[in-house]
Amino acid sequence: MSRPYRIACVVAARPNLMKMAPLLRAFAPPESQVETVLVHTGQHYDADMDAQFFSTLELAQPDFRLEVGSASHAVQTAEVMRRFEPVLEQIAPTAVLVVGDVNSTLACALTAAKKAIPVLHVEAGLRSFDRAMPEEVNRVLTDQLSELLFTSEASGTTNLLREGIPAHRIHFVGNVMIDTLVRQLPLAPSAAEVLRQAHLAGFVRDGGHYALLTLHRPANVDDPLRLRALMQAMVKLSEDLPVLFPLHPRTRAMLQRHELAGMLDAPGIACLPPQPYLNMLGLMKHACMVLTDSGGVQEETTVLRVPCLTLRDNTERPVTVAEGSNAIAGRDASVILALCRDILRYGGKSGRVPQYWDGQAAGRVAAATTSWLQSRQERRP
Ligand code: UD1
Repeated sequence: MSRPYRIACVVAARPNLMKMAPLLRAFAPPESQVETVLVHTGQHYDADMDAQFFSTLELAQPDFRLEVGSASHAVQTAEVMRRFEPVLEQIAPTAVLVVGDVNSTLACALTAAKKAIPVLHVEAGLRSFDRAMPEEVNRVLTDQLSELLFTSEASGTTNLLREGIPAHRIHFVGNVMIDTLVRQLPLAPSAAEVLRQAHLAGFVRDGGHYALLTLHRPANVDDPLRLRALMQAMVKLSEDLPVLFPLHPRTRAMLQRHELAGMLDAPGIACLPPQPYLNMLGLMKHACMVLTDSGGVQEETTVLRVPCLTLRDNTERPVTVAEGSNAIAGRDASVILALCRDILRYGGKSGRVPQYWDGQAAGRVAAATTSWLQSRQERRP
């Protein structure tokens, strides 16, 4: 039997997939009032950035693929809008659901808003207060366009209220990405197993004696001086502690362009291709520390209670610092190294798990969305 409401759900880049999987599941039960239509913009397209995640996360294949690929921010955003509009015309959804803060999030929110289709934003309200970050621009604008805003931590709600969003449109639901972590963690391989698969069995002496590094933010990897300084710090760290480095395609390209790829040959650094989700969980869980500029990794290490150093000057996820295992390390090599040595000596922060990061966030999104859809219907003349 057909359902009364239809929601177009948008995915675009790797981190969107972990957020969308539990949301689609929450709308799936037979008694659900909501039919979902999955639209993939194609912002990420490599198998190891995209396709292999679908089976692990039990995601159905997208109903629509926009295949926008990589381009400048303006071109990518414009292309998503151009290709998303006819999909909206074809499926006439009741609402459009977007997650996170990538270019496609804003592009699809704007396309929907221009067609007077309500936008639902999951992971709303996060703010780094750094407009030089492309994601910050995407977050602020997506939130202004959204009808329902689902926040993952209390700071998100505070930020939205300050920006004039009425309280009744904001729902503190917790973290949908952690729903996926809670579901998948029992399936994650050990770090030793991941290293065996990568033919690096001898690289780490005992199970957890390594640092895990991820880097991909333009502010860190596009500027050759900054990238060199960060890599020099990692080479230095690797003299005391093996460093495992799954390389994002953007970072690989930048290391090559700036003739820094030779630094990856340091004997204490092992590069890996972008890792499958479960391998990444296993590597995070068993690491003695994680160094990252990713937002999602700050959250995941908080739940895994593994010390995390964020290689940025700020975070849009302050609860990971206030309550979780995260610390802002900045980009100064000597500060980063001093913090790493502290963790090696004293073990680092383990923190606690923030409120509603409990594996049930998507259910809260589905419940709030359904009652909003019903009350909207009742208000109609
Ligand atoms: C995007 C998001 C970022 C998110 C990240 C996760 C924006 C502004 N940025 O950054 O918030 O944290 O995804 O990975 O939306 N490339 C490939 N294969 C792919 C995808 C990209 O090789 O499947 C290469 C291309 O050279 C591309 C570059 O990576 O130009 C950057 O990709 P893009 O999607 O523009 O941004 P990310 O850096 O991945």
